[in-house]
Amino acid sequence: MTTSSAPGKVYLFGEHAVVYGEPAVPCAIELRASVTATRRDSGLRVRAGDLTLDGFTVEYDSEASDRPDVDVADSLVDAAMGYINGAVTQARDAVGAEDVGFEIAVDSQIPLGAGLGSSAAVVVAAIDAVTRELGVTLDPAEIADRAYQVEYAVQDGQASRADTFCSTMGGAVRVEGDECRTLDTPDLPFVIGYDGGAGDTGELVSSVRDLRAEYGFAADTVASIGDLVRQGETALAEDDLSRLGELMNFNHGLLSALGVSSRSLDAMVWAARDAGALGAKLTGAGGGGCIVALDETPETETALEYTPGCADAFRAELDTTGVCQEGG
Ligand code: PMV
Repeated sequence: MTTSSAPGKVYLFGEHAVVYGEPAVPCAIELRASVTATRRDSGLRVRAGDLTLDGFTVEYDSEASDRPDVDVADSLVDAAMGYINGAVTQARDAVGAEDVGFEIAVDSQIPLGAGLGSSAAVVVAAIDAVTRELGVTLDPAEIADRAYQVEYAVQDGQASRADTFCSTMGGAVRVEGDECRTLDTPDLPFVIGYDGGAGDTGELVSSVRDLRAEYGFAADTVASIGDLVRQGETALAEDDLSRLGELMNFNHGLLSALGVSSRSLDAMVWAARDAGALGAKLTGAGGGGCIVALDETPETETALEYTPGCADAFRAELDTTGVCQEGG
């Protein structure tokens, strides 16, 4: 039995635009997904104890067509199982052990589909746990690449390397196309607001793709996000938190223009700004889920707790530990 864990993330800047080759800066946070892999003769059995706030347990067998009896949207279950199946396939391929079976147990502190990189963290941790269970330790760059291949396949080609690279390496990273590297950052006082909901990443990425194809100004908006990220990198290098906040506000406006915000995300963003946050924006695909704000004081967290539509508010430290084996 081998357990590995990997962190979730917030986007300081650049989600969606990163799909079109613009740079993005995701930052790992101290909410982790743990995956335990236990070798067995054949097949794949998955126990997902806490993939949503309610949690569900699934008996999954790639041969069986029965739907699991769980209280979450089918699309989320399909996606979750697709990610785990894909991760195990990648791990078997990396080790050259195509026929080995596994029992996989997932325990995640990261809500599904909420913009905190739950799927990437589960995939990265699963690849690490399964390969280590077979006695092989993969290089982090290979784990990140294989995890990206899984996301790319499950999301029908609508994925960047940002989530999977960030979850593998930990800390803050910069991703532009296939170029990925880690960044030094100042202490970033993240506060997260969660509306209890989820967005469908594939659908949201498609909607931006359509807008971009239809309107030149939507394509310009995507390019402007890239410009903003480049300015953000300078602000990060100069430890200029107030400039970072201003650019986060701008980034949220551009994402809103691309149609990926929502009433509850906007309400939380405005609550954070009114409370004196340096900046606030949605994080991840949008449509629902989480916002991220920068605030050293307790004011934003308190304001979010009283904001209608906000189900949970919490402070999140940057997690400098990427994927790692637990207790090993
Ligand atoms: O909401 P998440 O954590 O799935 O983030 C999606 C980020 C996008 O840029 C919209 C897509 C991607 O793969 O980069």
